[in-house]
Amino acid sequence: MRALSSLLVLVAVPAALAVKTQDFKTCTQAAFCRRGRALSARAQENPSWSSPYSIDPSTISVLPGQASFTAGVKSLLYPDVKFGLDVRVHKDGVVRVRMDEVNGLRKHYDEAASWALIAEPDISPEIKWSVGKSDVRAVYGDKKDIEVVVAFQPLKVTLLRDGKEQVVLNGRGLLHMEHFRTKESAEEKLPVEQPQGDDSQVVMQVNSRAWFEGETEDGYWEEQFGSWTDTKPKGPESLSIDISFPNHGHVYGIPQHATRLSLPTTTGENAFYSEPYRLYNADVFEYLADSTMSLYGSIPVMHAHSAASTVAIFNAVGSETWIDVAHPTPRSTETHWISESGILDVFLMPGSTPADVFGQYTRLTGTPALPAHWALAYHQCRWNYVSSDDVRDVQRRFDLEDMPVDVFWLDIEYAEEHKYFIWDKKYFPDPVDMTRDVEAVGRKMVVIVDPHLKRAASYPVYQEAQERGVLVKSPGGSNDYEGWCWSGSAAWVDGFNPESWDWWTSLFKTAPQGDKWTWTESTVDTYIWNDMNEPSVFNGPEISMPRDNVHYGGWEHRDVHNINGMLFHNMTFQALKARSDPPKRPFVLTRSFYAGSQRFGAMWTGDNLGTWEHMAVGVRMVLANNIGGFSFAGSDVGGFFGNPEPEMLVRWYEVGIFSPFFRAHAHIDTKRREPYLLDEPYKGIIRSLLRLRYSMLPVWYTAFREASVTGLPVLRPHYVAFPHDEAGFALDDQYFVGSSGLLVKPICEKGATETSVYLPDDQVYYDYFNHYAYRGAAKGKHVTVPAELEKVPLLIRGGSIISTRERPRRSSPLMKYDPFTLRVALNAAGEAHGELYLDDGVTFSHQDGQFIWREFVATSDKKARGVRISSRNLAAQKPSEAVDGVALATYDIANSFVKEMLGVRVERVVVFGLASKPNKVQAGGRDLYWEFTPGVTASEKRQGTTSVLVVKDPDLSVTSDWEIVVQT
Ligand SMILES: *[C@@H]1O[C@H](CO)[C@@H](O)[C@H](O)[C@H]1NC(C)=O
Repeated sequence: MRALSSLLVLVAVPAALAVKTQDFKTCTQAAFCRRGRALSARAQENPSWSSPYSIDPSTISVLPGQASFTAGVKSLLYPDVKFGLDVRVHKDGVVRVRMDEVNGLRKHYDEAASWALIAEPDISPEIKWSVGKSDVRAVYGDKKDIEVVVAFQPLKVTLLRDGKEQVVLNGRGLLHMEHFRTKESAEEKLPVEQPQGDDSQVVMQVNSRAWFEGETEDGYWEEQFGSWTDTKPKGPESLSIDISFPNHGHVYGIPQHATRLSLPTTTGENAFYSEPYRLYNADVFEYLADSTMSLYGSIPVMHAHSAASTVAIFNAVGSETWIDVAHPTPRSTETHWISESGILDVFLMPGSTPADVFGQYTRLTGTPALPAHWALAYHQCRWNYVSSDDVRDVQRRFDLEDMPVDVFWLDIEYAEEHKYFIWDKKYFPDPVDMTRDVEAVGRKMVVIVDPHLKRAASYPVYQEAQERGVLVKSPGGSNDYEGWCWSGSAAWVDGFNPESWDWWTSLFKTAPQGDKWTWTESTVDTYIWNDMNEPSVFNGPEISMPRDNVHYGGWEHRDVHNINGMLFHNMTFQALKARSDPPKRPFVLTRSFYAGSQRFGAMWTGDNLGTWEHMAVGVRMVLANNIGGFSFAGSDVGGFFGNPEPEMLVRWYEVGIFSPFFRAHAHIDTKRREPYLLDEPYKGIIRSLLRLRYSMLPVWYTAFREASVTGLPVLRPHYVAFPHDEAGFALDDQYFVGSSGLLVKPICEKGATETSVYLPDDQVYYDYFNHYAYRGAAKGKHVTVPAELEKVPLLIRGGSIISTRERPRRSSPLMKYDPFTLRVALNAAGEAHGELYLDDGVTFSHQDGQFIWREFVATSDKKARGVRISSRNLAAQKPSEAVDGVALATYDIANSFVKEMLGVRVERVVVFGLASKPNKVQAGGRDLYWEFTPGVTASEKRQGTTSVLVVKDPDLSVTSDWEIVVQT
């Protein structure tokens, strides 16, 4: 089936638009992956397979305070090699399992977690380990329902809930940490002594190391790929571990791959793919729309889900990693993780709900940064706006056509000879004036800065980096590495070197700083795009750096490859934060990322193609990123490559307006496609779509607030929103926006006029545009929703209140004092609820309590036979949910932001599904103006256009408590 469908893809895509697969390794072209898969194959073939790793019970040491224990681990194969195991339980129940070689010839890279984690997690004070004859175990949790069991022989770690296995490490015996050896010792190939003890199975198996490690030393000391040689000075050091979820039929996450959300299998009978999922950050030109190939970023986080439980694991490894997925039965999952180097450092997140798992992961690696409000608006990019005048002209055309836009972007051609920071004065003679022109109506400029620095004596940034010794070194570690990128011959900033951090920060100062070079030709509202940070190296193996390059601390590039992009992103984020006092919220877009990158900004899905397949998979990739904790994601609207026809471009804007990050971008060889260039009706449709996005900025911002506090994603696929509804577990083409109750299904096919939308529950769902009421069912139901070109299928779940701002403006900062519309979508019980979060959107004053956080509630009033709609201060009601570190107990309802916003009104309240025509609508005893259109009511079972009550200009402030009483 796979072969057939990939053939079809090849036929459908013109020859020019196909990834150069030969540029990137398959598992069989990576020695350690071959070894890992071969190990798994041997285990599969051998019914009496058993892991050679075991705990020596005499070495167990339970640390004071009890929450962690350490033990010595040894392998039957190499009795002289020692490993140390450390198992600990965090305060929130997460189990961390770490294993490293002890006193080895060299050190395995052990710093991946320290980059990903926000802090060393607190250890649980309640754990009591009990050390038995064959295992160590601990029972914990509020209901004492969780148990972690570490078995001695063979070594196996099991996390159970209510006696059911949730996660099992090394249950299949594929754990293998290749110890460091010398070339000579490896060549000797000593036969292994017979093991001691009475485990006859093991005795039978262990007649040579070959049963476990294979007959040959496959690629231990050197490896070729194409014309490149990886010298592997440290020899074999790979890490294999099997992780099973015996009671979970779906796994999600491990972005970034162009595939479905519920990960298809890669091994076992009828495997969907033949290659494992690969995590090795790479600049994949014209990537496939359906593949396990590695892309630009890596988040080694996997959710496992069933109707009864959600658990997750985070495998903190920074080197290249391949992951096989199999479902031995439809309701169980086995995975196998094979990494090139590093220690074993796995976090087991016990759940038991998706929300719990997001909380647990967030406490490890941090919540997404709350973006600047404008960053959620529309971004217009192209490779390249070619001059200052071009930028001004594009801005003018948007304004002439009344199309809102907040951000104009400059790709690499602004920089003279691709020396980032240095304006090409021939085309950009007046960069600061140009930027100020863009900023005049609150807009912003984003400019690209990549990590490769042109090796030119005339380039002060390169010169300073070289003098400070903060560049990545070539193998051996003495010379600066030289490779090719946009600038020609280049060197790379080493973000692992702390010396690079302050220096990088100083570059972004807009005022002169003594003799240091600073970017005086920029402004404090110039924001940054970090591209090519995988890193991309045009003449390197797999378009990246040689693995034997050397970073700060002597670590090889192979050890840190997947973390590299995050460090550069962080450096730029820190630099922008330090640029002004008081600081403004940075905006930095990154292409490469790792676990923890959500703390530093936004990402996009890289160089996609202008095809329907890429549009569709982009939606799934953005969902997968949300599962990986990195919500601020989007794909290039229009597709980077190609010239989408107008219909496709419109649909792509429909995808974009429902993505957390919304940017149009295009390759230098494409035709101009700014939306004002289209003919009618396309131009008008896109104008309305842009306005729809702007009207919904309050919804997006409120969702981002929640993500920044709880870690719950901004986009929520069905299994997250309805974890018990099995029919939704594989759904990845429709999703909810935050907690708002908005359900969207973007259309990613040509010629559609309607679509089928899945409703997961027995609830009414209202069409956002035509107010048609659809009915779900307790066991889920599909309904047909119109989807003509101008209409993205968008439903409001009954029980939700949506806040919007509907005055068309040129940019989002101009909307600051605009009034609100509330859409009250009653559920069958005549009730609804919604939240609205607002702050200045720019500074960090929200951390000092300068914000508005309201709850709107509609309750059914039996006595008045009507509905009461009220606004209350949510900050006072959820003291435990601090906003970005502010204890709400100290929240002052009269803070200065609230005072500034006193005059901001609710100008319209629209109620869907009211039971009958009101006879009175009042606020504070005052009669209000209203209009009622009869229709289907919220509690009826039939479908049809719903009743709509519009309350006009009730003259209520968005900052204060109030109540509207609707009497019927
Ligand atoms: C981010 O930068 C800060 C300040 O330079 C540093 O302390 C921190 O370790 C960095 N974290 C990552 C993941 O790069």
